[in-house]
Amino acid sequence: MTTAETSTNDTINQDSDKSTLIIEGKPYEMPVYGGSIGPSVIDISRLYGQTGKFTYDPGFTSTASCESKITYIDGDEGVLLHRGYPIDQLADQGTFLETCYLLLYGDLPQKSQLDDFEKRITYHTMLHEQMHTFYRGFRRDAHPMAIMVGVVGALSAFYHDSTDINDPVQRDIASLRMIAKMPTIAAMAYKYSIGQPFVSPQNSLDYSANFLNMCFSVPAEDYKPNPVLSRAMDRIFILHADHEQNASTSTVRLAGSSGANPFACIAAGIACLWGPAHGGANEAALQMLEEIGSVDQIPEYIRRSKDKSDPFRLMGFGHRVYKNYDPRATVMQKTCHEVLDALDLKDEPLLQVAIELERIAREDEYFIEKKLYPNIDFYSGITLRALGFPPEMFTVLFALARTVGWIAQWREMIEDPSQRIGRPRQLYTGPTSRDFIPVDQR
Ligand code: ACO
Repeated sequence: MTTAETSTNDTINQDSDKSTLIIEGKPYEMPVYGGSIGPSVIDISRLYGQTGKFTYDPGFTSTASCESKITYIDGDEGVLLHRGYPIDQLADQGTFLETCYLLLYGDLPQKSQLDDFEKRITYHTMLHEQMHTFYRGFRRDAHPMAIMVGVVGALSAFYHDSTDINDPVQRDIASLRMIAKMPTIAAMAYKYSIGQPFVSPQNSLDYSANFLNMCFSVPAEDYKPNPVLSRAMDRIFILHADHEQNASTSTVRLAGSSGANPFACIAAGIACLWGPAHGGANEAALQMLEEIGSVDQIPEYIRRSKDKSDPFRLMGFGHRVYKNYDPRATVMQKTCHEVLDALDLKDEPLLQVAIELERIAREDEYFIEKKLYPNIDFYSGITLRALGFPPEMFTVLFALARTVGWIAQWREMIEDPSQRIGRPRQLYTGPTSRDFIPVDQR
């Protein structure tokens, strides 16, 4: 029998405590490391060498894959901190580019540092002219996420001079290039899919206003981004900027662990984000609200979501990590109201359905007992649609915003001296060794 006896406490520091793992009657001591906050971890990196056994953890629900100083989540308390700053303070008081600086460099910028950073981002927003030809190779009905994966991966073919991962200057230039060019790339994917001409970036506009301008202006008439909507867009980008070791971030780190260039790594992250269980949930939440349609239908959908024989689940409710209100959902709900007010859509029926659905679900014993609260996706679909985006662009916007988080995590990994190529092991349950039989004798 294999048993684990740990003697940990929550305030231990590195190496100040140990765990004893008893395998087949033999004890093995494992170091225990404490973080600055949050649960401590048992270092099992030498387990195989010492015991000849691996651990088994599908979905990595009990595995810390790295050490990180970027983002902290306490799912039970509903806390999300970037470099120690609560997400609601960053979203209410700062700009997306301030959050980018914070994630990349570890601290909020001084005024002169922010000015310099904004200038550097602004002057990297244009795409190599040859890339316009590249877009024209896609079918017009291509999903914009398919275009994103292709175009971002192709950046390494256009910007060779920032692909040396061992050069910190090149790493920085590649980082700024991706943060700066992602809105241009995303807007071009959108314009291409609706058959409108590409719109060049405007240096006089801030990051989010420039993005809205590239998406919604047309040569035939003037377009002036509404400041309330630009601010909402900026806040949505802040809310999605990073979320520690989720599937796409882990994908970026794993791709980067082999030494792949940063553009290729971010393309891998975008591919992972595309899946409906990750970046696609806001679209599903919007579809569900449309399907419910009116407040009087809500009890029937609540009943269905609790019925185990019915596959229906309340989209935008529940989260793998948050067993409390998702702190991003609070800000998103506020942003949703601001956008609908600014557009004079206060009576939007879907908003009424969402508010009532949330109220009923939060009083329902099933949802209370299972700790199912609204997540960030519950209000983001309504908000993005009101801003003018079609559902197939929702995940693209997520990718645009998450790029800075992926890059910050990738840089942290490259700069970590203990970093090695990622190589999980497996529990093999296939056939044991057998001899090849020629086809005419099988
Ligand atoms: N509606 C109804 N019941 C639910 C819901 C829901 N949205 N979510 C979970 N449950 C129930 C499950 O049926 C399960 O019940 P049981 O214990 O009786 O079997 C229990 O709550 C626990 O659910 P799990 O699926 O085990 O929880 P997990 O942490 O693995 O899943 C997930 C989290 C995938 C997000 C889930 O809550 C879900 O499917 N939600 C709807 C989709 C969604 O909104 N996804 C967006 C996540 S946020 C993001 O990715 C940015």
